[in-house]
Amino acid sequence: MKDRIIQAQRQILNDLAAHESMIGELYDLYAAMHPQSSSLWSALAKEEREHSSILTSLNKLLDNGSLFWNLGEFASTNVAEQLAVIHTALSWARGSKQSEFECLKTALQIESSLIDSKFYSVVTSEAKEFTYACQALSRATEKHFQQLKDKIVEKVEPRANSGYSWEED
Ligand SMILES: [Fe+2]
Repeated sequence: MKDRIIQAQRQILNDLAAHESMIGELYDLYAAMHPQSSSLWSALAKEEREHSSILTSLNKLLDNGSLFWNLGEFASTNVAEQLAVIHTALSWARGSKQSEFECLKTALQIESSLIDSKFYSVVTSEAKEFTYACQALSRATEKHFQQLKDKIVEKVEPRANSGYSWEED
């Protein structure tokens, strides 16, 4: 019985890690599409890959006998839905060039659904490392959300004053 739980928890951690690296891949595609803002996208992509490694490293806690609480409850409601959003965004990004506004909007939607899903507050573990990892991941997600929002404001404001529609670039 315990083996089955560990197996299921490993699967969820690996799905979450894959989710983070897919977000990284998406931001890399956005960086290539928009050289003028590639430093922002590349920095976000790098951090997403770090998140993926953090989640993968949590497997060690399972190896050491710790279990997570509420992980199944979280996973069944959120992971599949979020993976579908990323898959769609990735296939759009691979298929055609999108405006920077489109990219920012998609990324903001992704980062805000991560905040909404509250993974890092729903799931708990007696292992301290898990708490530290969750704090780091949830702070990073909020930071990404803020950076993307700032970028949107920075792009919209000057153009709003000149009457220029920036969706055209
Ligand atoms: Fe992330």
